Amino acid sequence: MKNFNDYKDNSRKENLKLESKVVHGANGVDPVTGAMSYPIYQTATFKHHSIEDKSGYNYARCINPTREELERTMCILEEGNRAYAVNSGMAAVSLVLSLLKPGDHLIYSDDVYGGTCREVNEVLTPYKINSDSIDLSDLELLKRTITPNTKMIFIETPTNPMMKVADISAISKIAHENSAIVVVDNTFLTPYFQRPLTLGADIVVHSGTKYLGGHNDVLAGIVVVKDKDIGEKLEIQNYIYGAGLRTNGFMDITKRYKNTCFKNE
Ligand SMILES: Cc1ncc(COP(=O)(O)O)c(C=O)c1O
Repeated sequence: MKNFNDYKDNSRKENLKLESKVVHGANGVDPVTGAMSYPIYQTATFKHHSIEDKSGYNYARCINPTREELERTMCILEEGNRAYAVNSGMAAVSLVLSLLKPGDHLIYSDDVYGGTCREVNEVLTPYKINSDSIDLSDLELLKRTITPNTKMIFIETPTNPMMKVADISAISKIAHENSAIVVVDNTFLTPYFQRPLTLGADIVVHSGTKYLGGHNDVLAGIVVVKDKDIGEKLEIQNYIYGAGLRTNGFMDITKRYKNTCFKNE
């Protein structure tokens, strides 16, 4: 049997079209066995053969090879640098909102998904994180609403349910001039139609339960980040919360998204 142990494809697949990126994934095949259908590593812990001889995997709350393949594939598709696959879209939204601290100010689309709005009201507000929900298609209103404490602008575009559209590039420019980061919930368009990080946004979140999964049989969330420092902060929060996507969602997402892309043709 060919020894794939040293095989790790770290390329970003820039020369491929999005459909081909989806088909090829990150490694594409299992580095250990060469399995074409990426195996689901259903294990909680990983053995270290010796102090010197470690595989790089230790405990599945922190890292799992199958989840890692999905996360690296989402980085390639969204053109980001770090990704986290978690147990639901709301787990993804919560992970990102956990970057905010008491005294920070959040601006978010006035027609966001109800769960996001609930999280702001029920979780952030009691922790003294202030917020304004506004129509983010109105850039003058955005400029008037920003304060020196505004740390994050959370855009859903198009929004659920009213399908309001916001200009990610223009909002990102205004946000960055005011030292705030931009998060885009890209659930409805997926990277097939919109790649917010290429338009200036800092973080993308998905409910993978919707078009990424596409078949109504997986509950999942994805966070993709451009900036390595923000990625490291989220990595620590993610280890702490333990919201990493469970085994049954791992590969279903990438396999099903292939179908979703080709149906969009
Ligand atoms: C735009 C959007 N974001 C986030 C979520 C939350 O996703 P989940 O149901 O996977 O937690 C939803 C759910 O409908 C949604 O429509």
